[in-house]
Amino acid sequence: MTSADDPYSWDDPHRLKERIVTELVTVRERSLTYTDADDDLLVRQHSPLMSPLVWDLAHVGNYEELWVLRAVGGMAPLRPEIDDIYDAFKQPRRDRPTLPLLPPGETRRYLCGVRGRVLDVLDGMDPEAMRLDGPDPLRVGGYVFGLVTQHEHQHDETMLATLQLSGHPGLVPEGGLPTGRSIGPVAPEIHIPGGIFTMGAGAASPWAYDNERVAHRRHLPGYWIDRYPVSNGAFATFMADGGYDDPRWWNPRGWEWMRRSGVRAPLFWARDGDTWSRTRFGRVEPVPEDEPVQHVSWYEADAYACWAGKRLPTEAEWEKACGGHAYPWGDRPPSVGQANLGNRAARPAPIGAFPRGASPYGVEQLIGDVWEWTDSWFLPYPGYRSFPYSEYSEVFFGESYRVLRGGSWATHPTAVRRTFRNWDYPIRRQIFAGFRCARSEV
Ligand SMILES: [Fe+2]
Repeated sequence: MTSADDPYSWDDPHRLKERIVTELVTVRERSLTYTDADDDLLVRQHSPLMSPLVWDLAHVGNYEELWVLRAVGGMAPLRPEIDDIYDAFKQPRRDRPTLPLLPPGETRRYLCGVRGRVLDVLDGMDPEAMRLDGPDPLRVGGYVFGLVTQHEHQHDETMLATLQLSGHPGLVPEGGLPTGRSIGPVAPEIHIPGGIFTMGAGAASPWAYDNERVAHRRHLPGYWIDRYPVSNGAFATFMADGGYDDPRWWNPRGWEWMRRSGVRAPLFWARDGDTWSRTRFGRVEPVPEDEPVQHVSWYEADAYACWAGKRLPTEAEWEKACGGHAYPWGDRPPSVGQANLGNRAARPAPIGAFPRGASPYGVEQLIGDVWEWTDSWFLPYPGYRSFPYSEYSEVFFGESYRVLRGGSWATHPTAVRRTFRNWDYPIRRQIFAGFRCARSEV
């Protein structure tokens, strides 16, 4: 990759600093946009699954203070009394509304105070220490700034999920998206030949998280994978065929969860005569048949795949289908013609909207639109080393969380790539998650 193509100019610390400033400004504008609301909306808890929005906002500032100002800048705490309140591991989400949270105005002032000092730390950072062969991994490639930027974008996506749960209209602007392509009644599949491929992030991705490392060789037998994510129309066919009534399609735990919870459709759907409507950011509208289905649990995705005579792809199969670059289309950062990211229109784009975003195998919409559930548990790669702290990934490894890949329409381009791994409980539905299917060669 030449310097001109490199979105972060990893080989030029001065250009890298300029880009980091742009990233920091962009993410903060985004956070403030989603929290530009009256205090009542910000301090209220809209679901026990979510924090009050004002908690998320102060938490991203506190995280930035901990990592940039204290861990790298060596500064003393600005507000030591609030550290515990905004520690995600000490405070379960359901308890956060009862904490003595900073009020919204004070939260914004705190963020502003932290950010000014963060820019000073960036300005004063020795450019040589930011080179990819530097000795301090928090400074290499400006890692610590990548850490806080991606973290804030991830919370921004969480805030969008909270806003969707709140049913509050008007905070999420509508925008335009490309039109889709008709795919006919049978979902097209792409054959991926068997063989070895490289999985995980290498040196070309200095902002990759610890759980994406290390890049390693894996062999996969040949398999088929859907060209597109599963659409609302296809999912509605599963529902009309009695998919929620037939235990043959369901993982036993999923069947028990579905019966106990009374789930009979994707979250936010409601029956409207013979058709379905959905509530999206406070507006009721017909469910568009040609959009990727979202707000389904892993169990629902798995049941659909079973009904369709297929299965969910493993995360290795998902990643191999992307090809070998940072993104399915290559190493250039996402353009608006390649993927639906960054909340352009508060919804997924129709199936087939991004032929220019196809992978070398011809698989489409892998990045953006909906997170895709995979069949894989969230486990460490060979050679995994926790960095910069074990609570980011390590404490979640095991057979509790399923991996999601590819980002959603709400994910910012800076916080997604071929190797990016997300994870959640298999019953979760408030996230912007859908899926595609796969099947083995024989
Ligand atoms: Fe966080």
